[in-house]
Amino acid sequence: MRKGSGSSKRMLLTWLFIVYKWMMQQHWYRFDFALATKLANYMGKERKFTKCREIFDDIINQGRVPSESMFHILTVAYLSTPVQGCLDEACGIYNRMIQLGGYQPRLSLHNSLFRALLNRPGGSSKYYLKQAEFIFHNLETCGLEIQKEIYTGLIWLHSYQDTVDKERIKSLRKMMRESGMEEGKEVLISILRACSKDGDIEEAERTWIKLLGSNDSIPSQAFVYKMEVYSKVGEITKSLEVFREMKKCLGYTSIASYHKIIEVLCESEQMDLAESFMKELIESGMKPLMPSYIKLTDTYLRLNCHDKLESTFLECLEKCRPNRTIYNIYLSSLVKVGNLGKAEEIFNHMGENVTIGVNAKSCNTILCGYLSSGDNSKAEKIYDLMCQKKFEIESPLMEKLENVLRSSRKEVKKPLSLKLSKEQREILMGLLLGGLRIDSDEKRKNHMIRFEFNPSSIPHSILKRHIHDQYHEWLHPSSKLTAGDGDIPHKFNTISHSYFGFYADQFWPKGQPVIPKLIHRWLSPIVLAYWYMYGGYRTSAGDILLKLKGSSEGVEKVVKTLKSKSLNCRVKRKGRVFWIGFLRTDSMWFWKLVEPYILDDLKDFLKAGSETADDCAVESRDINFDSASDSDEKGSSDCSEDVNP
Ligand SMILES: *[C@@H]1O[C@H](CO)[C@@H](O)[C@H](O)[C@H]1NC(C)=O
Ligand SMILES: *[C@@H]1O[C@H](CO)[C@@H](O)[C@H](O)[C@H]1NC(C)=O
Ligand SMILES: *[C@@H]1O[C@H](CO)[C@@H](O)[C@H](O)[C@H]1NC(C)=O
Repeated sequence: MRKGSGSSKRMLLTWLFIVYKWMMQQHWYRFDFALATKLANYMGKERKFTKCREIFDDIINQGRVPSESMFHILTVAYLSTPVQGCLDEACGIYNRMIQLGGYQPRLSLHNSLFRALLNRPGGSSKYYLKQAEFIFHNLETCGLEIQKEIYTGLIWLHSYQDTVDKERIKSLRKMMRESGMEEGKEVLISILRACSKDGDIEEAERTWIKLLGSNDSIPSQAFVYKMEVYSKVGEITKSLEVFREMKKCLGYTSIASYHKIIEVLCESEQMDLAESFMKELIESGMKPLMPSYIKLTDTYLRLNCHDKLESTFLECLEKCRPNRTIYNIYLSSLVKVGNLGKAEEIFNHMGENVTIGVNAKSCNTILCGYLSSGDNSKAEKIYDLMCQKKFEIESPLMEKLENVLRSSRKEVKKPLSLKLSKEQREILMGLLLGGLRIDSDEKRKNHMIRFEFNPSSIPHSILKRHIHDQYHEWLHPSSKLTAGDGDIPHKFNTISHSYFGFYADQFWPKGQPVIPKLIHRWLSPIVLAYWYMYGGYRTSAGDILLKLKGSSEGVEKVVKTLKSKSLNCRVKRKGRVFWIGFLRTDSMWFWKLVEPYILDDLKDFLKAGSETADDCAVESRDINFDSASDSDEKGSSDCSEDVNP
């Protein structure tokens, strides 16, 4: 029964909206603010955030400021959906409510938005500190009650920043005290975390005593922070004591604490002890070991213990999936001992394996080896590769290199003119289908590709490193990393260049995503693979879904092309987004086609037919392809219709 009335209501909303849009297009229609507000609020209350937003934008375009209720309803509508990107929209509307509208939101709105910021998955909350502080500021200036969870949350957010604003934390704690609130365990842990970043022993010890005094058990991470505090000021023995205390207090030792103690011992060069803890960790079978392998090999490199380094690296090959960081360490070691044959082998292996890859550091290392051994022709080859990838050459090497080049070439080549390789072109198409943006300048002469990855998606965090490498030579200087091995940002962009004109005209002709007319020529397996990795996901049932934006005709064309490749699929529309679904056995066919191009590290996440681990399917609101309408309980879904016959 309920379902029936729900779907007729949805139909009514859809009709109202169509009528509204139609009226807006009529020359005789004079915009009616009250009517638009009423309609938008109605849509918003039914969680139709896309429609509500459209009317909201219409009102703004009419030069009017939407009413307070509309700001409120739209923010809540955005907050009540798990769809990616909606939190940012909610923040935007909330901020405009205050800055553009001059309204004072209700306490509940401040609190809900704040809570949503804290509940971001995968540690991505830390990027929302500024927004959180803004909400706090608004609560203060409106004289509203600031609840304990707000203080606690804000201190927690501060403690996760790379550089912690201790003064701010202090003043927040003072405010808490003055409002008669007790600092709970969570605040104490946050303070320990903050102390661990600057080695503030006194504060850490004070906090620890408070933590002992509270009745709850102490979480294992607190021990790790305390170990870190001591190691920051060189008190290694104390760090060790804490490590041992953990076992006594909790009855076990965590992986993170093993990683930490091995790191601490490496830094103080107590390698025998570090090795013995490493052995313990391996024997415990608990797993993650990469951070420790990196610390060990890095220290052996510093100590010139190259045999030890090699045996540790080989052990790592057996037990983990070594990444570029540790490969680079091994490469440096090989070059240092002059084993260039082996170094070359490793360098080539890195280049061939896309999940490892080479970066500026790897190239500089091997270049240094060739130059000091006088192998000029190989040095030149690396130089060409570096020009092509726009890797910076370290300046001492550049001097040597110039001598080499001067004798062999008439002029030192300027960096090659930019051109996308075939692979780069195909990957770009896949990403564009998956939702990548292109920004064009006003005259549409130069265009910039905006790479944006979801910080809370594990597949995206793996993909972004590969993409950053792939388009390295095209990236804007601000998007290139100086150190080489640092964390890749989740947003970066290319330079603005006329070369991208073709892609801009095909995929983003008017600042909106469009499906190109010639799409049927371009859906190669590699394009499909990158579309999937970037804009698709595997459902908990093992089906494969691809996201696509554009017109229904464009989508039909895509579907037809897929069918001509014997790929059966179904289509579901959600607002402005279409989902192409490969269900059950169809997903196997799709997987067979794309698998060779899926990054090794992503295969487990994306393989058709497998069960999904929950934390990986960030976007996994399941889309029901079998029913004509979505269930009421979801609430968040926009008007949906099957466009597939
Ligand atoms: C601590 O726990 C003990 C027993 O578990 C209880 O008797 C005591 O009242 C608790 N103290 C506080 C301050 O909660
Ligand atoms: C390699 O793994 C370590 C430890 O897990 C990590 O800190 C580092 O960023 C990784 N390096 C690359 C290039 O992914
Ligand atoms: C590429 O490197 C990863 C990580 O070290 C490894 O797991 C994978 O087996 C390698 N793939 C090939 C084809 O060598």
